[in-house]
Amino acid sequence: MKPIFADNAAIDQATSLLSQGKLVAFPTETVYGLGADASNPEAVKQIFNVKGRPTNHPLIVHISDIDQLKFWAQKIPDSAKKLAARFWPGPLTLILNKKTDVPLEVTGGQNTIAIRIPDHPVALALLNKFEGGIAAPSANIFSRISPTQASHVEEELGDNVDLILDGGACRVGVESTIVDLTGPIPKLLRPGHISVAEIEAVLETELLIATPIQKEAKSTENRAPGMMSSHYAPITPAALCEHDKLPAILNNLRTQNKRVGLLSYQFNPPENRLMHMLCMPEQAESYAQILYTCLRDLDSRELDIILIEETPDTEAWRAINDRIKKATAALKD
Ligand code: TXA
Ligand code: MG
Repeated sequence: MKPIFADNAAIDQATSLLSQGKLVAFPTETVYGLGADASNPEAVKQIFNVKGRPTNHPLIVHISDIDQLKFWAQKIPDSAKKLAARFWPGPLTLILNKKTDVPLEVTGGQNTIAIRIPDHPVALALLNKFEGGIAAPSANIFSRISPTQASHVEEELGDNVDLILDGGACRVGVESTIVDLTGPIPKLLRPGHISVAEIEAVLETELLIATPIQKEAKSTENRAPGMMSSHYAPITPAALCEHDKLPAILNNLRTQNKRVGLLSYQFNPPENRLMHMLCMPEQAESYAQILYTCLRDLDSRELDIILIEETPDTEAWRAINDRIKKATAALKD
């Protein structure tokens, strides 16, 4: 499926496909989503088929207006109202108690629901025209890198999606921050562009920080695919490297004639024809914006290994460090 430019006619076509229970990929400010009518269980099931995603992994419902929250969630706490008022439309997903009539297919069988208003003109135009909630995970095959451009969706899903709306490259580049508001204390489930400090400032309380679920864990609590240790991963083996250890590691790989991809942060290595290096921006927001595109690029070059140079261990880098850790988790196991 070739992406089509998201003009009014394309939005009309997408709306009509969603109403027929079909799948439409669309841009958000974070990553591209694979959307289906959230009130149609058969359509939602198709998302899981196409992604190869286990059916107990819950989806995010996208809406266009805070007033629609009441159709999806019940017992909405003040904390949700405050966060929604401050950050929506925007890259923040709230976990709330679901209304009883929300299909369990959407929530992976749980009584809680993930919901957000995306901050992208194409996503908002589609939601406004469709007038319902759109369930959408990232538009990639399960556990692979999220797409941040329409062409990535085409590469990932081919003809298994009925329409791909092209709205350009995503501005944020990593998935939304997720906060669970169903417990006594708000809890960060996934870091993102909206920081812990920004959320704490609005709530006037400290967040609990969830620890990632290990791959082997059989936990039925908080089934959150974004929290598994190996996620967002390239197919090429990928490893995280400290700045100081890079010269020795690169040298070692060169003596073995390994083809190496390097996402360099500040390291400037000597010439090596077996190495493909991408120099990453020093600023966290710019780094996040292109991280997945760069990983995809390196992944397509038939390399033996991708090395990712460690980035700063500070709050501004929390979401990036989380995704890098997950992308490189497999080699640690
Ligand atoms: O930025 C984003 O959030 C993108 C765009 C398309 O909106 N979507 C996205 O969806 O990243 P997905 O399915 O790849 O990740 C959804 C995450 C899951 O990893 C899970 O952690 C969380 O949402 N989630 C959904 N429902 C949940 C629930 N009821 N309880 C806990 N976590 C939930
Ligand atoms: Mg995803």
